[in-house]
Amino acid sequence: MSAKKAVSSRFKSVPQDPNRIIIFDTTLRDGEQSPGATMNQDEKIQVARALYRLKVDVIEAGFPIASPGDHDAVKAVAEVLDEKDAPIICGLARSLEKDIKCAASAVKNARRPRIHVFLATSAIHRQFKLKKAKDEIVRQAVQAVQFARTFVDDVEFSPEDASRTEPEFLCEVTEAVIAAGATTVNIPDTVGYAVPDQFGSVIRTLKEKVSNIEQAVISVHCHNDLGLAVANSLAGVRNGARQVECTINGIGERAGNAALEELIMALRTRGDFYPYQTGIDTKRLLPSSKLVSAVTGINVQRNKAVVGENAFAHESGIHQDGFLKERTTYEIMRPEDIGLEQSKLVLGKHSGKHAFKNRLKELGYELDEKQLVDAFERFKVLCDKKKNIYDADLIALVEDQLVAAAPVWELELLQVAAGNKAVPTATVILRKDQATYQDAAIGDGPIDALTKAIDRITGVSGKILDFQVHAVSEGREAQGEVDIKCDFDGEVIYGRGFSTDIIEASAKAYLNAVCRAVAKSDAAVKPAERPGHAQPKPVGATP
Ligand code: KIV
Ligand code: ZN
Repeated sequence: MSAKKAVSSRFKSVPQDPNRIIIFDTTLRDGEQSPGATMNQDEKIQVARALYRLKVDVIEAGFPIASPGDHDAVKAVAEVLDEKDAPIICGLARSLEKDIKCAASAVKNARRPRIHVFLATSAIHRQFKLKKAKDEIVRQAVQAVQFARTFVDDVEFSPEDASRTEPEFLCEVTEAVIAAGATTVNIPDTVGYAVPDQFGSVIRTLKEKVSNIEQAVISVHCHNDLGLAVANSLAGVRNGARQVECTINGIGERAGNAALEELIMALRTRGDFYPYQTGIDTKRLLPSSKLVSAVTGINVQRNKAVVGENAFAHESGIHQDGFLKERTTYEIMRPEDIGLEQSKLVLGKHSGKHAFKNRLKELGYELDEKQLVDAFERFKVLCDKKKNIYDADLIALVEDQLVAAAPVWELELLQVAAGNKAVPTATVILRKDQATYQDAAIGDGPIDALTKAIDRITGVSGKILDFQVHAVSEGREAQGEVDIKCDFDGEVIYGRGFSTDIIEASAKAYLNAVCRAVAKSDAAVKPAERPGHAQPKPVGATP
């Protein structure tokens, strides 16, 4: 098997300014590997659109071989983002023929397709996971890159667990894959073990020792197990990396990946120290963060840097006093630069569909005509229940609709009887494929009763691990948001529901988790086949 295309075709899709940092977003791939963060196809498309508006350079849209659903979602993202300035759409593949073919098929209709192949290189992975010698690893990596190059010009290679790989061997693999046609070499700190000085020196060593390094872009991909993902990524940039892989809100495997918003604001706020540019529209950071939190069900912690609720709140008297005298005494970033505006009364009963559509677009949601008509009807119903409609209400409304867009089961009716002297009882009617199903149950409380009634209908049962209710906007009539974390046969799944009635929001949240669990069990994603696990048939091996 040999590469069809010449190796010389360099990465041409983003400016070649030596100080331009390529932002590679992997929210839809590594981010989706966060426990419980499964997104359906509609949700992935919404996130991809938000990433386009945020102006990321590369979207890693998924791991196509993981399941037919993953393949189709990557394909859909590649096809939906057809604008002239659309980002590169990338699909992940192990260094296996079947994975590479599958990734190639998923990204083939993108304006700028990329295939990202990976293979572990560290001694620990070679010995215990792959059971392969160094020369076999080099051979497999080279063949994988060459094979990927027969489909696309833009091929990224990742030596998995690079930060724990012997530096000389990492240089050898890097040189070999660049010679084979890799246009980007991504250096992952797969287990978040690196510390900034050391990680920076890994990148510097590659720059100094790999003879053909100038023929590829060096990328970094850092995990956050020690809370150092952003610091390590920045150290990589200081030492020559020109692509950074990151996710919105830092979601990802285990403790997550480098948070895009933190990285971008660090580069921007400390431009004196980091003389680099990105193409990111920082005003889209907060809307993108809210969207990802909404579709994954993973809340952003209040004190999270840049996008947390408290990131711009000044509590102590001394700080407030200084801030009022001169903002920069206690604020190093301007809230408006990340898209944080005062909670605004945005729309009301008399607002028209056009204004509604425009505001949704500003918030990062682009709905098709049918979705828009549905959303607008729901908006009018909400206006009857609630006088003041805030941005947060609109996000809740659209998210509720998106969550319901690909449901297996829909809530048709909920009746709950509860009280300090009553036996909590719930009657539930669910809809599935035009048919309705009804059941009732008693429980320890109204939530217990309604989840039991839902379980009786769906035949799926989740154990609630965490349950949180909060108001999405202000006032006594505020909508309630319920976030639920459930265990379905050892699989952690999140669900979210909104309503002005918190019992109904709870039923919606639980049902959302049930639907995600059903969708997940339909998808043939075996954990053992995800990144970081055994590789059955290497590229080039005879069947
Ligand atoms: O963390 C990792 O090593 C990865 C690779 C697939 C890039 O996610
Ligand atoms: Zn990763």
